[in-house]
This record gives sequence, C-alpha cells and structure tokens, in this order.
Amino acid sequence: MTRRTCQAIILAAGQGTRMKSDKPKVLHEVAGLSMVGHVTKAASKSGVDLISVVVGPDMDAVHREANNAHPTVNAHVQTERLGTAHAVLAARPDLIEAKDDVLVLFGDTPLLTSETLLSVREKLAKSNDVVVLGFRPAVPDPYGRLIEKNGKLVAIREAKDCTSEELAITFCNGGIMGFSGKHVLELLDAIEDTNAQKEFYLTDAVEKANEKGLMVTALEADEEELQGVNTRQHLANVEASFQVRARLEAMANGATLIAPETVFFSYDTKLGKDVVIEPNVIFAPGVTIADNVTIRAFSHLESATVAEGCVIGPYARLRPGTELEKGAKIGNFVELKKTRVEKGAKVNHLSYIGDARVGEKANIGAGTITCNYDGFDKFKTDIGKGAFIGSNTALVAPATIGDGAFIGAGSVITGPVAADDLAFTRAPVIVKSGWAASFRAKKAQKSKK
Ligand code: UD1
Ligand code: CA
Repeated sequence: MTRRTCQAIILAAGQGTRMKSDKPKVLHEVAGLSMVGHVTKAASKSGVDLISVVVGPDMDAVHREANNAHPTVNAHVQTERLGTAHAVLAARPDLIEAKDDVLVLFGDTPLLTSETLLSVREKLAKSNDVVVLGFRPAVPDPYGRLIEKNGKLVAIREAKDCTSEELAITFCNGGIMGFSGKHVLELLDAIEDTNAQKEFYLTDAVEKANEKGLMVTALEADEEELQGVNTRQHLANVEASFQVRARLEAMANGATLIAPETVFFSYDTKLGKDVVIEPNVIFAPGVTIADNVTIRAFSHLESATVAEGCVIGPYARLRPGTELEKGAKIGNFVELKKTRVEKGAKVNHLSYIGDARVGEKANIGAGTITCNYDGFDKFKTDIGKGAFIGSNTALVAPATIGDGAFIGAGSVITGPVAADDLAFTRAPVIVKSGWAASFRAKKAQKSKK
C-alpha cells in the first residue's frame, strides 16, 4: 500500500478578544510554548507533508511561531473573519492539489495529541470522506451538536442554530475535522452562510457530504484533550492539564517526584532515569537532565544541560547556557549563567558565576562572584582544574585562574593567576585592644544620667 499524504490547516485568524491582550490569542503560552506551537508540533508528529496556517492581517508573528515548530509552514491571510469554512478556504492554493488526508485544526486547542490525529487519519484511510472529532463535555452549552440518525452522523448544528431538542444532545463537535483531499474543495465551496451568525460554517461540510452520498463518521475523543482556550481562565485550565500529563509521564519514565503537584515542566523538558525532584522545582524551556540527578527544593532551571549524578539546590538557579558535567554540585542560592561546570566541581553556596568555565574538581567558595559585566560588555572567567577559590571572592572578568591555584578569602582578583599560585588581596587587620569594653562602659554611663 502506498503511503497516504497529509496536510494540516491550522486556523488561527481570531484575535481572541476575550483574552484582553495585545497579542494574538494563539501566541499565549502553555508550558513555555505558544498554543499554535503546540498544535503545529502535534500535526508535525502525526506525519504531515504540509502545514498551512490561516492568520489574520498583521499576524506574521503567528506564522513565525508555527515555523519554529515545523520547518516549513505556509501562511495564508484571512482578511475578513467570515467563519471557519471561509478561513479554511483562505488556504485554497494549498488545497487545489490536496493531499490524501486534510486535517483542519484550531490554533487554540493546544493539548491535542498526534495520536488522536493519527486516529482521524486511520478513519480517512478506511474510505471515510469526512471525520469529525466529537466529545462529551461536562458543559455542552457553547458547542456544535453532532446530529445522528440511525447511527450515522448527518449534521453538525451550532448551538445558536439548535432547536431545544437538539440542544439536549450531549455529543459535541470538538472542532477538529478530517477530509479526504479528493472532496474537500467541492464540499467547502458548497457551504453557505444561511445561519444565525451569517458565517460560513466548516461544520456544514457534514450535511453537504451526506447530500453527495459521501461517507461521514464521528470519532470520540477526550474532553481534556479538546479543551479550547478563549479566556485567561481557560489558559490556566489547559496549563494545569498539561502539567498533570507531564508529571505522570515523568514518573512513568522513572523520575521520583516527591510532591508532583508542585513541580512545573516545560513542553520540552527531558529527564533521565532515577532523577529525584524535590518539591517546588520549575523547569523553563530547554532543560535536559541525565540519569541519577537530584534537584532539591525551590530550584529554577532554564536552557541548561545537566549530566549524570549532579546535585542541584535547594534554591539554585540555572540560567541559559548552563552546562553541568558529571557529578557537579550546585548548592543553595547559587546562580549560574552561560557557565560550564566540569566533572566533580562544586559551587556550593551563595555565588554568581556567569560567562565562565569552572574546571574539573575545582571548589568555589561561598559568596564568589564573577564580575562579568561592566554595563556595556560581558567578559569571560576561566577557572582551572582543581582550583580553590576562597569565600567572598570577586573575580573581575576577564579573569584566568590556572589549574590548582588558590585564591585567598575576600579577594578582588583583577589580574591573571598562574597554575598552582596563591593570590589574595587583603586589607591589614587593625586591632584596638579593649576598645569594645570601654565603648560599652561609656554608653552605659550616658544612659544613667
Ligand atoms: C467551533 C465549531 C463548533 C465546535 C467548537 C469547538 C464551527 C462553525 N463551529 O465553534 O461546532 O463545537 O468550535 O471548540 O466551526 N477562525 C478563523 N477565521 C474565522 C473564524 C474562526 O480563523 O473566520 C478560527 C478561530 O481563530 C479559532 C477557530 O477558527 O481558532 C474556531 O473558531 P471559533 O469562532 O472559536 O469557533 P466556535 O464558535 O468555538
Ligand atoms: Ca472556540
């Protein structure tokens, strides 16, 4: 059997006024990725050959965002919002030589999975011409109802056009539809705007297909997966569902989450086996964690790569460009940025290390700061293998500390230090014998008067 080709059309022309936002609705993020990014990724994973996105005027950013999730996405502009069928037809140039399967997706349903899209494609492969993804929402009020007769899907009726009997139907349109490429254009072109909202409804394709004697079927999916976002509250609901899914997946793959409900993942977080995550840990995008890593409570990680056996936190912050090699230890109130901490090195307490390399087994004392920025440019710090940096040291970059060098506590290091040398800067200690006692005595006498 030859492989069926497929194209997905993602509708995203709506501004989403109920979000009360200056940016298009589909650019709002779930787990660190825009909603349109999630939908594009799901489409991409289901093996499509072409993705088209329908956007409103001035929505180049939506196109760019979809393009980040899939290498080539065609954008089409729908200048007037005349309904979902009209929106799909904005992608007409991509439909003239339609692929075998055409999937129509909404940019605001970010939890849609590629598995569900594959099940729609399976139905299309079994000679169905129109496949509708239905669901049974707890509150069906706003959704289109799936009208069935003798077990056959005969129409979809928008809530605003329903009779009271039709409104009692609980099987609803989830919004995602599949079409056979052979018929998609003739079906869409036949749709009219004779309805309560004077819009061209994509859903009318079901009735048109029935009139033409084509095969139409519904497929039931999970309500959670088809949740759409219209408001900030919906966005929070979708985020919560995503996090539940991600935590279960992390545990299923061999991570221990001590208080799963307090750990937040990004869409792309990668965890190895036997990773232990303590409560209140946040993963921003771009984090990869290898096996046997422990992340202690209240740590925040972003664009960081962590090798086997590292221990991070509590209260650690790994910022973009952090790379921890095997067995590195990062302790409390330590912030790292664009820094490679090599094998077995330790930065255990209260430090800021940025734009740096910390050599193998080096030990960075409490309160060490790399002074990497002069208000205009950033400079690098290179700390050699086995170096020992005393507590409360300021390394003024560009700085080079050789292998095995020692830096005395409290130093401000402004020049290079060679391998195995000791360097320190220190004000002399001044001792005034008995000064404190006589000071207290003087104060005590004054308060008696
Ligand atoms: C749609 C379905 C309804 C279904 C519901 C599920 C239709 C007619 N109705 O209703 O049966 O139960 O989704 O959530 O399809 N869009 C455009 N251009 C337009 C109109 C819409 O790009 O001219 C985009 C929107 O940005 C959105 C999507 O299409 O991403 C759906 O449009 P929306 O107005 O939200 O449809 P619903 O009324 O929710
Ligand atoms: Ca909607």
